[in-house]
Amino acid sequence: MEGRLSVREILLRGKDLVGQKVRICGWVRTRRDSKAGVSFVEINDGSAVRNLQAIIDYSRFGNLVISELLPRLHTGASIMVEGTIEPSPGKGQDIEILVSHIKVYGEADPSTYPLQKKRHSFEFLRQIAHLRPRTNTISAIMRLRSALSYAIHDFFKKRGFYYIHTPIITTSDCEGAGEVFRVVGGRNITEGSEFFGRPTYLTVSGQLQAEIYALALGKVYTFGPTFRAENSNTRRHLAEFWMVEPEMAFCDLDGDISLAKEFVTSMIEAMLSECEEEFFFFQKFIDEHLMDRLTTVLKKGFEVISYSDAIKILSQHARELEMVPSWGDDLQAEHERFLTEKMVRGPVIVIHYPRKLKPFYMRVNDDGETVSAMDLLVPGVGEIIGGSQREERVDVLVEQMTLKGMNIEDYEWYIDLRRYGSVFHAGFGLGLERFIQFLSGIQNIRETIPFPRTPGHALF
Ligand code: 4AD
Repeated sequence: MEGRLSVREILLRGKDLVGQKVRICGWVRTRRDSKAGVSFVEINDGSAVRNLQAIIDYSRFGNLVISELLPRLHTGASIMVEGTIEPSPGKGQDIEILVSHIKVYGEADPSTYPLQKKRHSFEFLRQIAHLRPRTNTISAIMRLRSALSYAIHDFFKKRGFYYIHTPIITTSDCEGAGEVFRVVGGRNITEGSEFFGRPTYLTVSGQLQAEIYALALGKVYTFGPTFRAENSNTRRHLAEFWMVEPEMAFCDLDGDISLAKEFVTSMIEAMLSECEEEFFFFQKFIDEHLMDRLTTVLKKGFEVISYSDAIKILSQHARELEMVPSWGDDLQAEHERFLTEKMVRGPVIVIHYPRKLKPFYMRVNDDGETVSAMDLLVPGVGEIIGGSQREERVDVLVEQMTLKGMNIEDYEWYIDLRRYGSVFHAGFGLGLERFIQFLSGIQNIRETIPFPRTPGHALF
């Protein structure tokens, strides 16, 4: 007996397992009874897109057992099956398991169990967020998410970065957009009483704290949940999302862009090698252009253009746009789409945005008007990375903070990093969920995170 194996392991080993006795545990996807005294049960255990077909030959069990067993083997029931791996004569699979022993752990009443064989809409599945991981799409995305998380740590470890756990509760609003969630705590919450003695928020980005450690350890990254109280009900905004943020001392904007390119390329390669089955599933059922899009990135690379050139290009195509931006305006989703999907047909890195559009920490360029910023835009999703070289000059930083109306006293620690041993440094943030949208082709960001939080919605 091989012992308990996952469906994934069994399918990977395939015909090598023929003749072996194995045990698997999982959930019934479908059951079909044939007139020839055999039932076919498709079992999925969450380890693979494909199911393992189990054959229940009635002659091996006796009529009494079968008449008791079959009514309990509905879609959704949890079971344990022991049996022998056999070559499968049927279409669609190489092997199957000929059942010698079967146990039903938990039944799923077909009159109430919401996941039946038909296809369900993502909107419907969001309302049953506790059951939707049992579907092919959500389980495939979550396996991809898990594989990417490991690949992220691996990428940075191999390049000598240290993983820093930046705080979830913070006193600063890194992006300065005021989109923060306030933190209150303690038994007697009253107006003006502060658990920490001062107002605190859920972090919008770990960057400022990562900078502290980059200016001590050289190359660091943080990877954790971030929170934004934006009232944006779009297909690419969440109120809670995960961000990967590398931060490097002795690094300028060019070095930052190089790392971002290497990172995205390396994550695509990780997906193609670690999640091959999931990738083909996405290609078949979610986005038929997925392979083209990802191979374009690997082969063609990334186009880098300045914000000013982007505005020029967009103005030349004013007729094709609903809103035409002029210099100083933020790029809208429509503009990002135009640049990535029509102009370049691939990823675009836009650099040197106007100073007034970007947060206080970005390094002011010699023109005094723009900052050393970079946003990576991709087809289908738009911005997935935002980053910059950081302002390392005390006087310019203080001027920036003053212009943005910030309270300098609250950021003395941040200015200290420039007073003592200041170095040029840079970093970026990649939103994991938008990246998964890009890698899987899934339309709505709510499908890329196990428990989506959006305005008006926080289940569990
Ligand atoms: O461009 P952002 O706001 O940059 C920062 O927060 C910097 N402090 C990062 C850094 O330099 N260390 O956000 C970075 C990325 C975006 O490109 C996007 O992928 C993602 O975070 N993001 C969101 N993802 C989902 N929902 C939202 N509401 C998001 N806001 C930003």
